[in-house]
Amino acid sequence: MVYIASDSRYETMKYRRSGRSGLKLPTIALGLWHNFGGAHTLDNSRAMLRRAFDVGITHFDLANNYGPPPGSAETTFGLVMAQDFKPYRDEMIISTKAGYDMWAGPYGEWGSRKYLIASLDQSLKRMGLDYVDIFYSHRPDPETPFEETMSALDYAVRSGRALYVGISNYSADQTRRAAQILRELGTPCLIHQPRYNMLDRWIENGLTDVLEQEGIGCIPFSPLEQGILTNRYLSGIPADSRAAVPSSRFLHETDIKAEVIDKVRRLNVIAERRGQTMAQLACAWILRLPVITSVLIGASKVSQIDDIVAVANQAPLSADELREIEEILR
Ligand SMILES: NC(=O)c1ccc[n+]([C@@H]2O[C@H](COP(=O)([O-])OP(=O)(O)OC[C@H]3O[C@@H](n4cnc5c(N)ncnc54)[C@H](OP(=O)(O)O)[C@@H]3O)[C@@H](O)[C@H]2O)c1
Repeated sequence: MVYIASDSRYETMKYRRSGRSGLKLPTIALGLWHNFGGAHTLDNSRAMLRRAFDVGITHFDLANNYGPPPGSAETTFGLVMAQDFKPYRDEMIISTKAGYDMWAGPYGEWGSRKYLIASLDQSLKRMGLDYVDIFYSHRPDPETPFEETMSALDYAVRSGRALYVGISNYSADQTRRAAQILRELGTPCLIHQPRYNMLDRWIENGLTDVLEQEGIGCIPFSPLEQGILTNRYLSGIPADSRAAVPSSRFLHETDIKAEVIDKVRRLNVIAERRGQTMAQLACAWILRLPVITSVLIGASKVSQIDDIVAVANQAPLSADELREIEEILR
């Protein structure tokens, strides 16, 4: 059926400015790391993308290697772009990244100019796009000078392949260096994409300060700790969950630890008292920080997207609730 976006798509979502840039992003963004590759059904991927856009999620996050197989999430997105989203391209922020292992040989990963630009050209082709909105260096390269990686990002913008640039998985010090080089090149760093959630709080030790000082936005990934910070594992490991499905390489049944699930149960009591789901509480907790631009979720079902987007209109956590959460996380 022909897709026509919902007329009410901008009625409930909230948008925050990314750092000191002119760009606003939705408080909830959708990532295509899992469940959008060639190993998954196009119907479900497409239904999730359509629903996301219908509820105000204007930002879709990809990377060259998302699948499996690598590249196939971009191919899926390209199909949906061509068939459904084409009339709405100017209402969307589409990001991709390069940094991890993508093809054989010395030019298929890390941070050289050769790899970044070749990879971006491949991504544009797979997605059928003239440009992406944000192009990221997916991880810092210990062997390539930062000047080279940043100048490749700058070139991506100057050559019309990207509108903005970002970095992901860079430490506080590396972020400061990258931001300075980008500023000197005239292409300021728009956003940082770090891992951050209630169970992984490394960004609080320096990175958030740097982002605030430099005026860079922040879009944490795996806000739900890949599903652990939801009600998914409160009564065992469901057969269709990320921890159980064979295509998932980064979460296994052995990662679902009793002591962590015990914490999630206690957190869930707070969520229920607030009339929230556990997933909503986990996102509201991240959004408490003013430096946060968006929370970058993953999903395997339309219903999970519907659940999370409600956060945009729920009451922020009170000081007492934050203290109670802190006690549990300690
Ligand atoms: N820059 C990087 O290095 C990097 C690394 C990783 C990810 N990312 C980005 O971040 C995005 C999100 O990462 P992620 O998928 O790990 O995020 P996540 O939001 O922590 O986990 C997503 C999983 O949580 C479960 N879930 C989501 N909503 C739920 C709900 N309302 N109720 C119950 N369960 C729910 C689903 O698990 P089930 O599948 O079990 O249903 C879903 O697949 C990625 O798609 C990617 O764009 C970036």
